[in-house]
Amino acid sequence: MSTPPTPDRSVAAPPGGNPGTRAARPSVLFSPAALGPLPLANRIVIAPMCQYSCEHGLAGDWHTIHVGQLALSGAGLFILEATAVTREGRITPGCLGLWSDAHEQALGRVLTAVRKYSSMPIGIQLAHAGRKASSEVPWRGGMLIPPAPPELGGWVPLAPSAVPHAEGEAAPAALDDAGLAHVRQGFVDAARRAQRLGLAAIELHAAHGYLLHQFLSPVANRRTDRYGGALANRMRFPLEVFEAVRAAVPASVPVGVRLSATDWLEHTAAPSWDLAQCITFAQALRERGVSFLHVSSGGISAAQKIPLGPGYQVPLAERLRSETGLPTIAVGLVTEPEQAEAIVAEGRADFVALARAMLFNPHWPWAAAAKLGAEVAAPPQYWRSAPRGAGRVFGEAKIGMR
Ligand SMILES: Cc1cc2nc3c(=O)[nH]c(=O)nc-3n(C[C@H](O)[C@H](O)[C@H](O)COP(=O)(O)O)c2cc1C
Repeated sequence: MSTPPTPDRSVAAPPGGNPGTRAARPSVLFSPAALGPLPLANRIVIAPMCQYSCEHGLAGDWHTIHVGQLALSGAGLFILEATAVTREGRITPGCLGLWSDAHEQALGRVLTAVRKYSSMPIGIQLAHAGRKASSEVPWRGGMLIPPAPPELGGWVPLAPSAVPHAEGEAAPAALDDAGLAHVRQGFVDAARRAQRLGLAAIELHAAHGYLLHQFLSPVANRRTDRYGGALANRMRFPLEVFEAVRAAVPASVPVGVRLSATDWLEHTAAPSWDLAQCITFAQALRERGVSFLHVSSGGISAAQKIPLGPGYQVPLAERLRSETGLPTIAVGLVTEPEQAEAIVAEGRADFVALARAMLFNPHWPWAAAAKLGAEVAAPPQYWRSAPRGAGRVFGEAKIGMR
């Protein structure tokens, strides 16, 4: 697609560029758009990023600091980290959870503090790690923690099949019907909690080799029942989860899906997940009312060969967008303002998500707005920071002092 996406007219028009930097034409990146029913001020999304900083899955002071600083960045949407829908669904013992009232209250305290100073919409990624659960946190090596002795904090991971993620690792336990029902209900209950917390969007994590991706990919799914084998069977559980979550929250809350568009295993002879299957899955999601696609890739196997480079996943997003017509978020090594602008201006994706670049520079959208001659929201406490020549980067910001 080469035409720029049409901004949603139900949202106030963009301020029309920043005279201070004399933009040739208004930035598309900084124009408003809608993620399904949710209006966003611009097309910059803060990608979900695990913080591994919880005890027993409870959000705490780190989250207030981390979410707080990124919520001042002026991005259109912040998506909270992969949040486990059951205790065994955490990647690590430090991962965030939302499976009880205590978890809901802890996250509620963080959101209350952040919302005092930021009106940025905050969404959440709901997740189950499947066979990649019970891992050590990355800065302690990330390896599988065995279930015993208990003081190590590990547990037996649950997965579609008893196939370990890496050779030599202990096998996870295959989910039976009761286990599948428990996980499905976990997603539904967590989605209801998210809605009660006023979270603006729900993203289901079906990427990066975690549980829902494990069902989709024949690499991890060796089941012989109605959840394994043919593509329609491998899609069944992720689609059941999507349908159940979609039905559990009102239409005003967009429910999207993060996908791994390919396993990057075409070079192996073994069956794997690829873009063609992913398009079929995305079309099935569209039929069920998915609000957006967030297109990532990989994560199911160490044998993957990823052609890493700037914007390397954008062609996958572009293809899924053109095949489904769904609002699409592109992510992965998008680091430069002009690069992000081109992706949305050329209609390759509707939104761009950034992860590492946002951690490195939590004011990335400010710098991007200054560079692209656009305007961005910033708290008044920081208005005096606008660099010389950045003109109206913070819009009508007026500073007076005697
Ligand atoms: C610290 C960190 C934590 C991450 N946690 C998650 C996560 O919770 N869920 C997820 O889907 N991806 C996660 N990712 C992947 C990012 O969302 C993103 O897809 C990836 O980093 C590529 O984007 P980037 O090049 O802008 O960093 C994480 C990445 C980083 C760096």
